[in-house]
Amino acid sequence: MRIDLADLDFWRRSPKERHEAFARLRALDRPVFFAEKRVPLLRSGKGFYALVRHADVVEASRNARVFSSEPGVTSPEPPGWVKHVFGESMVNMDDPRHARLRRIVSRAFSPKMLAGLQGDIEAACARIVDDVLAEGPRDFVSQVAARLPIHVICDMMGIPDDMRAAVHRQVDISTAYSGIRPSLPHTVRMAAQNTVALLALQRLVIRLGRERARKPRGDLISALVTANVDGERLTDRELGSFFALLLVAGNETARNTMAHGMKLLTDHPGQRSALLEDFEGRIGGTIEEMVRYVSPIMQFRRTVTQDYDLRGLRLRRGDKVVLFYGSANRDEAVFPDPDRFDITRDTKPHVGFGGPGPHFCLGANLARMEIRTMFRELFTRLPMIRTVGEPELLVSNFDNSVRRQAFTF
Ligand code: HEM
Repeated sequence: MRIDLADLDFWRRSPKERHEAFARLRALDRPVFFAEKRVPLLRSGKGFYALVRHADVVEASRNARVFSSEPGVTSPEPPGWVKHVFGESMVNMDDPRHARLRRIVSRAFSPKMLAGLQGDIEAACARIVDDVLAEGPRDFVSQVAARLPIHVICDMMGIPDDMRAAVHRQVDISTAYSGIRPSLPHTVRMAAQNTVALLALQRLVIRLGRERARKPRGDLISALVTANVDGERLTDRELGSFFALLLVAGNETARNTMAHGMKLLTDHPGQRSALLEDFEGRIGGTIEEMVRYVSPIMQFRRTVTQDYDLRGLRLRRGDKVVLFYGSANRDEAVFPDPDRFDITRDTKPHVGFGGPGPHFCLGANLARMEIRTMFRELFTRLPMIRTVGEPELLVSNFDNSVRRQAFTF
């Protein structure tokens, strides 16, 4: 089987075939270069080295001076116009700009702020299960997994109830683009819709930001647009980009972990019994193993800022490298029998939330809290819950996304 990670057809193969291909790449003695095709308006066609071993992903994540997140981390490298929408997003920045933004927004993710959200997350999970009981089980994604993360982000930000339907609509449009599209015109149309949806979301939150700057409330938008102790605050454009980033980074990821996670627990009854025997003691390890096994974000890119030797490979300034988290998380050098789902394994070094370094997922603890609370509610009130049949997966080189998953209880 020919392996070409830059060919979008590779991502149409089954997850099993892709994992086998990555195992072969990991066995090679150095990272491989993949050339990309240039597609006007859509792709720069620069090509990249694939970092597939755990040690290489960790080295690149740690060394952000050499492995820069600017001008952007998505792959294939998008053209310049995309930066208009995502450009001010912290995920695409290096220090000191990144550090400044991270300092301002980190207060939303402090242990105290997260503890304050627990009651609301519990109430949201209870409502979701009430609705599932009333409607009957159809699709685990739309009825359960998709509902919680967006609700939590809207609550954190303080989005008023009457604006939430608009936010949901725009998020649905923007995430519909995350897969690989069958044709170029289709891709262009979806990219345009995605851009319009994200700009609409940004406008909405900027309007709220201006209101909250005049009349602050206890929510996150108010905290971000009023100065912190160092006199720092977000500009309109930064606030808009941050909201778009939260919706993109914090929505699909948590939802896909829950959807894949329910399927994994169904397919591994022994693991499920072990979890249910001691839910509070084992759910933490179960969530880490789900994130390792699923790797909801399959890859992010970096650009090399100076010549650098990586495991015998001479990288040149301007080279692109892609960090394949899904492959690093199955690296047999770190995880014995990596294709086995095992909630009791030591998953500490997994890179599902990114490698160690300045961009490590800001929402990791929030995601853990959401997943823990949702599974607790599900297994308490619907102890027989399980998935039915195979999931409908999105064809994507970025999101390990489940579109639909039948279930029963
Ligand atoms: C299971 C769920 C999640 C996974 C697997 C995940 C994964 C990741 C990964 C791999 C990165 C690293 C980006 C990089 O190195 O360039 C990241 C960054 C980030 N994540 Fe998450 N994420 C999850 C949930 C969330 C949630 C719930 C939120 C917020 C609501 C969130 C907000 C962010 C933000 C703001 C960043 C950028 C951090 C920075 O650039 O400094 N994530 N996430």
